[in-house]
Amino acid sequence: MTAEEPAGIAGRGVAGPRAGVPATPGGASGAPRGGPATSGEPARPAGTPATGTAPASGAALEGDPGPRGVWVLSAAAVRRGDRLAADAGLGGPVLMETAGRTAATLLWKVAGPFSAREPVVVLAGGGNNGGDGMVLARWVARWAGPTAVKVFLLAEPGRLRGEAAVQWSLLARSGVPAFALAGEPAPGAQQGSRQNPGTGAGAAPVAAEFPEPGAARQPAAGSAGAAGPHTEVGPQPAADRPAAAGPPAAAGAGSGVGLAVDPFLDHLEAAVARARVVVDALLGVGVRGAPRPLAARALQVVGAAGVPVFALDLPSGLDADTGEAAPVVPRATWTATFAAAKWGLVLGQGPERAGQVFVVDIGWPQETGTGVGGTGGEAEAGAPGGGTGGFPSARVLDAAGVAALLPRRPWDAHKGWAGHVVVAGGRPGQVGAAVLAGTAALQAGAGTVTLAVPAPVRTEAAVHRPEIMTWALPATAGGEWDAAAVTALAQRERERRGRVVRVIGPGLGQSPGAAACLVAWLGLDRPAARDPAEGASDDDRPADAPHGRPADGAPGTDGEPGARAPEGAAAAGSAAAGPVCRPTVLDADGLNLAALLGIDRLRERPGSFPLVLTPHPGEAARLLGWTTARVQAERPRAAVELARRAGAVAVLKGAGTLIAGPGGELYICTRGHPGMASAGMGDALAGIVGAFLAQGLEPLAAALVAVFVHALAGELAAPAEGIPVQATQLITRLPEALDRIRRGSPGSAAALGIPGVAWLRPPLEGDGAPVG
Ligand SMILES: NC(=O)c1ccc[n+]([C@@H]2O[C@H](COP(=O)([O-])OP(=O)(O)OC[C@H]3O[C@@H](n4cnc5c(N)ncnc54)[C@H](OP(=O)(O)O)[C@@H]3O)[C@@H](O)[C@H]2O)c1
Repeated sequence: MTAEEPAGIAGRGVAGPRAGVPATPGGASGAPRGGPATSGEPARPAGTPATGTAPASGAALEGDPGPRGVWVLSAAAVRRGDRLAADAGLGGPVLMETAGRTAATLLWKVAGPFSAREPVVVLAGGGNNGGDGMVLARWVARWAGPTAVKVFLLAEPGRLRGEAAVQWSLLARSGVPAFALAGEPAPGAQQGSRQNPGTGAGAAPVAAEFPEPGAARQPAAGSAGAAGPHTEVGPQPAADRPAAAGPPAAAGAGSGVGLAVDPFLDHLEAAVARARVVVDALLGVGVRGAPRPLAARALQVVGAAGVPVFALDLPSGLDADTGEAAPVVPRATWTATFAAAKWGLVLGQGPERAGQVFVVDIGWPQETGTGVGGTGGEAEAGAPGGGTGGFPSARVLDAAGVAALLPRRPWDAHKGWAGHVVVAGGRPGQVGAAVLAGTAALQAGAGTVTLAVPAPVRTEAAVHRPEIMTWALPATAGGEWDAAAVTALAQRERERRGRVVRVIGPGLGQSPGAAACLVAWLGLDRPAARDPAEGASDDDRPADAPHGRPADGAPGTDGEPGARAPEGAAAAGSAAAGPVCRPTVLDADGLNLAALLGIDRLRERPGSFPLVLTPHPGEAARLLGWTTARVQAERPRAAVELARRAGAVAVLKGAGTLIAGPGGELYICTRGHPGMASAGMGDALAGIVGAFLAQGLEPLAAALVAVFVHALAGELAAPAEGIPVQATQLITRLPEALDRIRRGSPGSAAALGIPGVAWLRPPLEGDGAPVG
């Protein structure tokens, strides 16, 4: 029966929702990491110290786009990628064969084995998505015999074009039972009692099975697509057969039976009810709008059966760019998406509809990804996939890429090596926010941490962690921040040796004093703020800072993440005691106050000192002057816009946190889970970013590492996906998250031990999950 067993497949997966999640994240031991699908190039060297005395400042990001996770692309960019691949000599048939065969291997792994008693049902459309499904069916038939799979083509075979027509012909040779809508019904044929909703091609279809072997095959009238070279092996034209009005014949018989739409759907219903899994190959990135009536009816049949669904490329009808989904869009258990992930799989309802998503390398030449990566945001007029077509391309953060960025402590490291994080925040009633940021910074590796708070709340801030210092700063009578805190803070910071980083905002409040402090800390109170493109002098360089690395993507700067005395500092105070700009993380009220200043003013900051913004969607909306709804609807664009306008790194928090660099770089973190939506999570993240800045990473690298570590710690703290996690619980898991990343255990490259298949979002690492 089984002609050939797929390579690398051992044993049977477990069917059912989320059954594809293996017990051991990352697949079998020895599974390649950073395989072809995920690592266009070899992993870059870890951030080893450039000088031997200081950590490298994001060496892995210098001159290249950073971690090499899989791409997330718009539908327009996918089409561009296909064209580039074709130009390079890899045409559609080759890509389709690779896509379908790899998907068949994956399907077998998560839901197989299959047999005539537990078959696969493939619901195929008339485009290339359907072609992929037919390739998959052919391979399942080779491995398990032709009766282990049934194909339902929701299109008229005579109208198939290109690769889909070729695949239909090949399927005919395989002996797989297949049903299809055919062309105009035979004269006098019954169409059933229900109204035929049409296919969109204007036909009044009936269904046809493949003919018996050796049965006469004639070209259908007007069916140019199946004529010519494929006619002799194509399906029996419906016009040659009477369309039956009664119940369908038993599936799998392989006898030619012409069926109207309703019997076709009845037959689909019967087959799906006995299926082990349904492969949704109806609509891919070529979908335009919500599924039309006939497609919707077929999808309803599938959805009503409650059988696990394995979607090809994306669940049918899901908008490839926005993740919008009509009610009939299947809730897949697994989705195999080809060449690259699509925005619709990570935005909107995509994550819920797509289930466990695997990114399948179909062999695009490596330069193809780069080609679409930089320009994927350009809109393509009338592009399918919702017409947005304008989202920029992004890379998915994975553990291997993040591990390469982690700072490595030299054996003789001392606390000054790992920098000093100053959390400027806390006010009456909101001290906890600053404490959370400081504690997270400490746990993420900052050498020393200080909470700089208004004097009246110092005691409250000091009781939480003995390792954390507190500075009492000038305050108003009500305990709010006073503008005099600027000079006081500068004096205390000068007492520190080494790199000092500020995390400004957690619990800061929006009082006038806080606003005045922020303006001074950002260096915006001097009339002649230095051009961001202008370099800082060597005199401004901290004692142990590395040399000669660009900061924040600003050309021409020496980019040291240390103290900068902006021009005009003397006007605001003496050079020794006046305000100094330092690498800064802006969060919470720091962002709200910046929004009042105007985000574009952040570009005027002197010396272009490293700056990372960490807004949630509401804060991002205030910064951009958008509505929160618009930010959420256009998250990729919002992140890029924040970074561009501020001339800074922007971390747009939320499900699928986005990290954008000022040079147009864009990354997405698919880790974490809904249980992390709780108070204090943002404060913790801000502190973690500060910790990695303090350890010498460039701002983009610091943000990437921090977001990933934060998400992984949130997974570790949860016993299961969606179980609420408190910020303090997450913070305690940070060292373990770092350890797992460093040891490469959160396997995010090869999935299920299948080369060329990567997780988009690996299984939760939660408590009780075995270490991979
Ligand atoms: N070479 C490869 O292997 C390769 C490369 C890239 C992509 N792919 C696969 O091919 C897919 C893209 O192929 P494609 O461009 O041919 O598009 P498609 O995703 O297969 O969709 C096109 C088909 O869907 C129908 N359709 C569109 N909107 C519809 C709606 N709202 N309701 C019902 N039917 C609708 C179209 O019918 P009408 O024409 O009548 O509108 C057409 O038959 C990808 O998702 C992927 O699966 C394969």
